[in-house]
Amino acid sequence: MSIHKEQVKSALSHVIHPHYERDLITLGLIQDLITQDKYISFTLELPAKDDVLANHLKKECTTAVHKFIDKEAILDITVGINISKKRELEGDEPAAAQPQQPQQQSVLSGVKNVIAVASGKGGVGKSTVAANLAVSLAQTGASVGLLDTDIYGPSVPTMFGVTERPNVTTQKKLVPILKHGVHLVSMGFLVDTDQAMIWRGPMVTSAVKQFMQEVEWGELDYLVLDLPPGTGDIQLTIVQTVPLTGAVIVSTPQTVALDDARKGVAMFNKVNVPVLGIVENMAYFVPDDMPEKKYYIFGKHGARKLADRLEVPFLGELPLREVVRQTSDSGTPVVASEPTSAAAIGFKEIANRVHQALIVRNKEQEKTKKIDIKIRP
Ligand SMILES: Nc1ncnc2c1ncn2[C@@H]1O[C@H](COP(=O)(O)OP(=O)(O)OP(=O)(O)O)[C@@H](O)[C@H]1O
Ligand SMILES: [Mg+2]
Repeated sequence: MSIHKEQVKSALSHVIHPHYERDLITLGLIQDLITQDKYISFTLELPAKDDVLANHLKKECTTAVHKFIDKEAILDITVGINISKKRELEGDEPAAAQPQQPQQQSVLSGVKNVIAVASGKGGVGKSTVAANLAVSLAQTGASVGLLDTDIYGPSVPTMFGVTERPNVTTQKKLVPILKHGVHLVSMGFLVDTDQAMIWRGPMVTSAVKQFMQEVEWGELDYLVLDLPPGTGDIQLTIVQTVPLTGAVIVSTPQTVALDDARKGVAMFNKVNVPVLGIVENMAYFVPDDMPEKKYYIFGKHGARKLADRLEVPFLGELPLREVVRQTSDSGTPVVASEPTSAAAIGFKEIANRVHQALIVRNKEQEKTKKIDIKIRP
């Protein structure tokens, strides 16, 4: 039987923080609680760094869950430090006077714009668009990072031809790998994909979260996130962890893809992340030997019409071309390997529209805040 969040909260209310002499739930130190079957994942938020205390509390949490819920439950506990919590708990300054700085904001404090590339449906070209968008932006002289958050099917290692492992700083931060002008980090650099296949949702979300917080990004104009397909817990966790500036939705013109793209737009609306626009990928097929021909094999203008209906910008259409697939498979995205080709120009136009949409968005709206949303039990 699946473990419910309320059961976990009840078990953890038996774990007492030795310094504050109150339980972890009352103190509000348990965050991001997710359960699935026998897996439980949460962040234990401590007011200060204290490895001995953290290990003690982790052990106590595990014992309480095994004792009160299920001795076979599997816990995945991330320890986070939240300094403002100390003031709140010790009452030396009113908590309201201290702007709550989420931990990751200091991690991504050097990043000006964080753009998520998403879709509802798999295989529509998110990673291809994310890779070419990142390289196109870098070609304008901007400093750009690309984070491949797809733990089950990472694409960046293949699309950028990365075989080496990233370095780690003395502070144990991961150093992105620079390729085709883009600072790259992928789940695929560190996690064995075959192993990850058997991971359950909570394990994946906690790995994604840790990954995003423990990278030395430095100063970036843009950080592009390549999201895994879907609109489930993993995508929601990513949205919760990073204050996204905006989202780009990729869809093919097919009805099944459009239905899922609509869900993608709805997900970002729900969490107040502005949708910068929709890209129609594989809009039509162009054979290499008859470049003047266009075959609308997945339907015509589906994503363009969806963008109109949802009143979000249409960022452009990309043809289905063999060169796009070939260059992705061989480790050099088309905008880097064949920058003057018609296919590359399509990607660059889209990158330019994303850049324009960001200028408008940043002028008209406040920075996106990290938001707490309910993940279904
Ligand atoms: N415009 C295009 N022309 C030709 N091939 C394309 C085009 N866009 C994507 N592809 C190819 O289609 C396949 C799927 O693309 P991609 O991996 O980018 O999709 P995805 O949405 O990221 O998939 P997933 O949901 O698995 O993450 C890849 O082999 C890619 O090279
Ligand atoms: Mg992908």
